[in-house]
Amino acid sequence: MGSELEKWVLMVTARTPTNIAVIKYWGKRDETLILPINDSISVTLDPSHLCTTTTVSVSPTFDHDRMWLNGKEISLQGGRFQSCLREIRARAQDVEDKKKGIKIKKEDWQKLHLHIASYNNFPTAAGLASSAAGLACLVFSLAKLMNLKEDNSQLSAIARQGSGSACRSLYGGFVKWDMGKEDNGSDSLAVQLADEKHWDELVIIIAVVSARQKETSSTSGMRDTVVTSALIEHRAKEVVPKRIVQMEDAIQKRDFPSFARLAYRDSNQFHAVCLDTYPPIFYMNDTSHRIISCVEKWNRAEETPQVAYTFDAGPNAVMIARDRKTAALLLQRLLYNFPPQSDTDLDSYIIGDKSILQDAGIKDMKDVEALAPPPEIKDNISTQRSKGDVSHFICTRPGGGPVVLSDGSHALLNPLTGLPK
Ligand code: DP6
Repeated sequence: MGSELEKWVLMVTARTPTNIAVIKYWGKRDETLILPINDSISVTLDPSHLCTTTTVSVSPTFDHDRMWLNGKEISLQGGRFQSCLREIRARAQDVEDKKKGIKIKKEDWQKLHLHIASYNNFPTAAGLASSAAGLACLVFSLAKLMNLKEDNSQLSAIARQGSGSACRSLYGGFVKWDMGKEDNGSDSLAVQLADEKHWDELVIIIAVVSARQKETSSTSGMRDTVVTSALIEHRAKEVVPKRIVQMEDAIQKRDFPSFARLAYRDSNQFHAVCLDTYPPIFYMNDTSHRIISCVEKWNRAEETPQVAYTFDAGPNAVMIARDRKTAALLLQRLLYNFPPQSDTDLDSYIIGDKSILQDAGIKDMKDVEALAPPPEIKDNISTQRSKGDVSHFICTRPGGGPVVLSDGSHALLNPLTGLPK
């Protein structure tokens, strides 16, 4: 490190995806190290629609570690942030930037302070795995800044200590979090089962049911479950291990019916275990249940699953359609059942990959109003078309893992001051 007079700022910007579990993580065997009671499997979502961008910077002029989330300064004092920072600093290497004349020795990282700015392109804490993408991005970008030698799987074991589900965001495509056996957590890490190109026909539609803060955090919810639920042990010991094997096989063979059955049965069991927790936890609401019955009726009418659904710790539905044609038919059904409020325009109601809307033959609100009831509910007069229960839909697909954004225009910190732009 140079003298105190030096004013340089060194920074790295990276982008990291969110992920949705199709075999759920719920319950810890170690609260501090964040070690789970079962393996889990997730699909990484396309970062062009849902991701976190983080800029990390270091400078001899910084006098303490600071972080800004979506433009607002937040505290880094929490134990989970501190664990991640400590683990990364312990693995930091020498860094040299000849062009800027900067030389940082690995021991210098213990004294140097960091500025971190992070931005989610979707609402934080709306149950859309913002902490997963956020913690994964923090760890990934710091690892690049400090020149860590660890691969993404080893980095996942650090991200895991920020938030369990974050470890699965270190890879694109289909990812398994191995629960591991060691008490120190060294073998509790994410591995990639297949990349995003392996099964690229899949289309994902997310119904954002409520953009409000979620009621019970995953952390305290799963703690209560482990302490009070009589069913969770059966789930972790008997049910999940079998499903993990079957899910890996379904992904490998691109066997959609098996993939879908496992995903929705596992989501439903996770919510059953929440209900078995005392006091009970309700993450899904009436709208979530109506979405399930819309998909279930259609799947039953087709005699084989067309769409998988899964819900995390909130009411939002994540639906996975077997291909684009199915996704278009799904979108017609969703718009029939959950039309936008009269003052919402279609363009802000369906976001992300809007081409699915074209495939569905829907150009404007007139087309939405003209939608016929899907054949499977024709005789069911009780079906309501209630407006406003869904805030919006996001159309996306399986996507890639973390990347460094080398173009300076993506940076969230000013390269001269290291403060938010
Ligand atoms: C329902 O990773 O948010 O989304 O490890 O306490 O930070 P902590 O919990 P978190 O839990 C996610 C739970 C879930 C299922 C899943 O993603 O596997």
